[in-house]
Amino acid sequence: MDKTSFEMKPAIDGPMHVSRKHDSAHKHVTGTAEYIDDIPEPAGTLHGGLGLADRAHAKILSIDLDAVRAAPGVVWVMTAEDIPGANDVASTGKHDEPLLATDLVQFHGQPIFAVFAETRDEARRAARLAKIEYSDLPHWTDIDSARENGAPLVTEPMTLRRGEPETEIEKPPLRIQASMNIGGQEHFYLESHIAFAIPGEDEDVTVWSSTQHPSEVQHMVAHILGVSNHAVEVKTRRMGGGFGGKETQSNQFAALAAVAAKKLNRAVKFRPDRDEDMSITGKRHDFRVDYDVAFDEKGRIHAVDATYAARCGYSADLSGPVTDRALFHADSSYFYPHVRLTSQPLKTHTVSNTAFRGFGGPQGLLGGERIIEEIAYAVGKDPLEIRKLNFYGQRGSGRTVTPYYQDIHDNVIARIVDELVASSDYKKRREAILKFNETSPVIRKGIALTPVKFGISFTLTAYNQAGALVHVYSDGSIHLNHGGTEMGQGLYTKVAQVVADCFQVDIDRVKITATTTGKVPNTSATAASSGSDLNGMAAYDACRQIKERLIEFAARQWQVNRDRIEFLPNRVKIGNEIVPFDTFIKAAYFDRLQLSAAGFYKTPKIHWDRAAGRGHPFYYFAYGAAVSEVSIDTLTGEYIVERTDILNDVGKSLNPALDIGQIEGAFVQGMGWLTTEELWWDAKGRLRTHAPSTYKIPLASDRPKIFNVKLAEWSENAEPTIGRSKAVGEPPFMLAISVLEAISMAVASVADYAICPRLDTPATPERVLMAVERMKAL
Ligand code: MTE
Ligand code: MOS
Repeated sequence: MDKTSFEMKPAIDGPMHVSRKHDSAHKHVTGTAEYIDDIPEPAGTLHGGLGLADRAHAKILSIDLDAVRAAPGVVWVMTAEDIPGANDVASTGKHDEPLLATDLVQFHGQPIFAVFAETRDEARRAARLAKIEYSDLPHWTDIDSARENGAPLVTEPMTLRRGEPETEIEKPPLRIQASMNIGGQEHFYLESHIAFAIPGEDEDVTVWSSTQHPSEVQHMVAHILGVSNHAVEVKTRRMGGGFGGKETQSNQFAALAAVAAKKLNRAVKFRPDRDEDMSITGKRHDFRVDYDVAFDEKGRIHAVDATYAARCGYSADLSGPVTDRALFHADSSYFYPHVRLTSQPLKTHTVSNTAFRGFGGPQGLLGGERIIEEIAYAVGKDPLEIRKLNFYGQRGSGRTVTPYYQDIHDNVIARIVDELVASSDYKKRREAILKFNETSPVIRKGIALTPVKFGISFTLTAYNQAGALVHVYSDGSIHLNHGGTEMGQGLYTKVAQVVADCFQVDIDRVKITATTTGKVPNTSATAASSGSDLNGMAAYDACRQIKERLIEFAARQWQVNRDRIEFLPNRVKIGNEIVPFDTFIKAAYFDRLQLSAAGFYKTPKIHWDRAAGRGHPFYYFAYGAAVSEVSIDTLTGEYIVERTDILNDVGKSLNPALDIGQIEGAFVQGMGWLTTEELWWDAKGRLRTHAPSTYKIPLASDRPKIFNVKLAEWSENAEPTIGRSKAVGEPPFMLAISVLEAISMAVASVADYAICPRLDTPATPERVLMAVERMKAL
């Protein structure tokens, strides 16, 4: 991006609401962005490797590590006994997740010991030499077998209930009871997990961790070392993608590196390779939705009763909040007059599943959209008509209350859908597709428009807080730090824009610095799409304090009224005088003005009573809609996405270029989840899709051939968020449901749209072909 000088362009470079490149874009593509594995290693750095269980569920009878210890390059072999503090990396406080297994193995690939060697290759080779004896126990790895075995729940289930669902479900003329299986998803961040620890004096240790949650890594490392939080500093400049996979899963690698660094007094790096990373870290939860819906002949929903069962893996991790969020989104954009929703977080002998973009929301929404699809086929109408008929209403309509009793009053879904129907030419294209399918023998087409409504805020109220630290140096340059982490989403750029805007300076004056627990304490995970909402506000609060002091100083020094002081682009107007920003700051310094401030923010209005299933868990909602058109080959099940049109609500965008990037990326990642990405465990409980050779994420060539992405430019957040913007990170992920439903329509055409194809996900070509065959057999 060329830089226009201030003289030529009388505005600052990079204020809020203006497209600006990601601060590291050029570094990402030229290889100069520093990731943890790029940090120069101090002399004597050791490398970690893991010894993994090759049983899904077993008692450990004996562990013989002699050969591991004797292997070339090995310096230390660590087992659970070597952990100075607690052998516990459970982020929930449930103590159900040991760092290293002791007497019980609960999933294939569970770490049992760690090896530290001069090179990574030596550590990994040595780790294979262990002799471990097991006594097998019965195991189950999926939802069906978990239910058959009466599996326990990993955490307390939740129920949302409103109206009289038990009796009202019997009343209307039409009723459907069926199920949908929804697959999980591997995060496939480009940079796999990594931690790098350098020991300090006394109990100190510094850990560079690829994590979305530096504070939790800090607390977990301290817990494992048995020291206070103040002894541990965690730093994160950037991740090569996180997508939720680095919300809790980073803890184990950081803890292992830190224990070894303190024990051996050497720098220690821990970096699993891709296969290990995929086998031993949690993924998106698979779900099975059992739904029961009652509706009238027009297609209007009367009552819904649904159970959302999830494959949680062996421990709770984030399964509680993930399954909760699934229920919070089971209504999608629709009003359910009578409703009961229940979660069933099942324990399975698989890796413990975790956060993934949308955090259960996508699975919840997908169930809700399946219900719409069922009704549409049952009454023989365009699913879009059924959607519109069931949308939440405007204030006063009596159709605004969610299953968790939050009243929706920022609803823009109807407007978004109407605008998208017009701009995508939906009606004409659907007519044309119906015609095409009448005569096309092999290729069939489908089109679908699906909406998104996504609640913004952490459902754990305490997480909705953030801090920032801003220093203005005496040369007028600005140091910015906040608790949010950068994983490619552009958070650092957005918050820097807030600061530049506040002081009215070019963004180049603002130095974005690595997130560190030493500068801003007790931060939340950068998650729930709330990074810029929270940290943008915290940074704004810090800037506001400094600015207030500067105004007071100028009024005093120049003997003018406060209202005659104005921050102009890169300069300050004080009375009739115009002073360049850096000259002004220097003067403030000589006046001994405090040019540094800590900012803080907590989200207002939210509250949630889980036991009662009532409250106001979300500060606001983000909306969007997508229309996708696909073609399928009815002889092979293969498909392509011909065209997708998206209209997304991001409020008043902080940075339209970054927001559009987030929408495109989220949509394509969502498509991968629903179409090609398939996780498969064999009978022994071993994940067999643990590398790109067996796990297919979307390629550039899989993206829609025509891809029109627009922001709803008229939108402004009804709540006073930073710049009236809205969160964008997760909501557009669910726009990909339009692709699944378009495929479903193409399949349905084979049986003349008489029945709902009930496609499970991922709708791989095999699954699509089987669905086509089912239709042919009718
Ligand atoms: N975008 C990129 N490029 N890389 C990522 O890892 N993670 C997503 C989303 N967008 C992610 C991303 C997830 S899961 C979340 S919750 C949000 O970014 C978090 O960042 P935000 O709160 O700043 O939007
Ligand atoms: Mo995102 S799943 O909330 O990290």
